[in-house]
Amino acid sequence: MSKIIGIIGWGSYIPSLRLPLTDLAKARNVDPKKYLKGLILEKMALPQPYEDAVTMAFEAAKNALDRSKVNPEDIGIVVVGTESKPYSVKSVAGIIKDLLGCSPYAYVGDYDAACAGGIQAIVTCAAFIKSGLAKFGLAVASDISEYEFYHPGEPTQGAGAAAFVIGKGNVDVSIENFVAYSTDTNDFFRRSEERYPFVYGHFSEEAYLEHVIKTHEKIVSTRSPKPDYYAFHLPFGKMALKASKRIGLDDEEVERKVKPSFEVVKATGNQYAASILNVVIHFLENMVNVGERIEAISYGSGAQSIGIIFKVEHDLKKKVNLAPTLNHYLRKSKLVDVKYYEQRRRNLKEKPLIFGKIEPNSTNGVKRFICENCGMLLSPYTIKKCPRCYEKGENFRLREIFYPFKAKLLSFEETEKDVFEEMLKGKIRILEEETENLKVGMDLKLKVIKLKVEGKNGLIHYGPAYEKQE
Ligand code: COA
Repeated sequence: MSKIIGIIGWGSYIPSLRLPLTDLAKARNVDPKKYLKGLILEKMALPQPYEDAVTMAFEAAKNALDRSKVNPEDIGIVVVGTESKPYSVKSVAGIIKDLLGCSPYAYVGDYDAACAGGIQAIVTCAAFIKSGLAKFGLAVASDISEYEFYHPGEPTQGAGAAAFVIGKGNVDVSIENFVAYSTDTNDFFRRSEERYPFVYGHFSEEAYLEHVIKTHEKIVSTRSPKPDYYAFHLPFGKMALKASKRIGLDDEEVERKVKPSFEVVKATGNQYAASILNVVIHFLENMVNVGERIEAISYGSGAQSIGIIFKVEHDLKKKVNLAPTLNHYLRKSKLVDVKYYEQRRRNLKEKPLIFGKIEPNSTNGVKRFICENCGMLLSPYTIKKCPRCYEKGENFRLREIFYPFKAKLLSFEETEKDVFEEMLKGKIRILEEETENLKVGMDLKLKVIKLKVEGKNGLIHYGPAYEKQE
């Protein structure tokens, strides 16, 4: 792949709730050393009830766009790798593209390639750009990993999202080389009607190692200079140690070139498709110098491995603080206990909610249409009809609303009323559990959430809410 195609912006997002694995070990009657030393994990990142793969993908993509300074309208392709998509039929990429303000002419699609989907998204964007089909691409990975309670995979669960803006020419990090290796391997799969995957756990470790080694050997045969860092897919930290050993790294190399990535997985657990992308971001934000290389080898069960050699072309320090860093999200954590974790899985009811009025503090933001009859929020790019009212034959009128990325809080109150009812009155959800934590005049930041979910088989309404600006 041409040297001049690569990363021009990157962004992460990790949900802030964390379950310490020492607590889970106690609840499951397991020696905590098994999780902490045996798997090399410490905490499990858990999404809030209003978060899912779509909302997390939006946050990471927004951070990547802010770092790239690319106008969203110039993005020609948006691809999302995820194995936890909220709809079986309806792409995550299509939802976040409109929320981000990308053109309706941008190509959208999702990859469902287990944990390799994020790297596949990068390669697809790079190929579109190389062939001239797009000027800029947005490659995103977003996942929530879930196993059944008491499953051996339970302590490895986690969540997170990552995104790269891919461009051509004056890139920060070039894609120097790329190798793909895949086989029909039955180590881990999930039927569409099932919530949890079926896993042959120890066999999947062997499948991972076999695919990673085959990919590494092919990359080495292309005679790229020896990498300065290795980014592996991290279902848990131990897999990187096993992979490092199999590709022949010595202890000193493992310490310097691999182990820094454990900071990510120990704080989040398995982020599935986003795992390796956030490891790459960790190296970019904290470690790399100009001219250094990262060998990134993903593994997605089923099975495929994709390797990319990234080369750092510019000093990245100036870009790091243009958006919240991965370290910011790793630090921003609120501990929860096993009781909360188990209740959350059975669908916690979050009531009453806080709604407030805001005034804009920025000129850019998210545009939506609101149906003045039923309150449904719609993308401004969709056909100008409310799907529900049109289908029922009811009269409706659509009004455009602008939600700024930054705002000031004007008023707030707790309410049990329906979210759309509040939004029709010009109010918006404020993401705080207690009103005592809010003050009129405080700075707020937009966050996309699941505003409303219509049962198990109905629509999920994604839209803006506000949280405290840090
Ligand atoms: N103190 C220290 N280490 C301990 C320990 C203790 N008390 N008890 C166990 N360990 C070690 C084991 O020796 C093992 O390390 P090793 O692999 O280096 O030998 C590790 O902890 C895990 O123990 P194991 O008995 O293999 O765990 P398990 O059978 O309960 O589950 C998986 C491990 C990977 C099978 C399970 O997490 C799983 O199914 N995960 C989902 C699939 C997955 O992540 N696959 C990886 C590739 S994608």
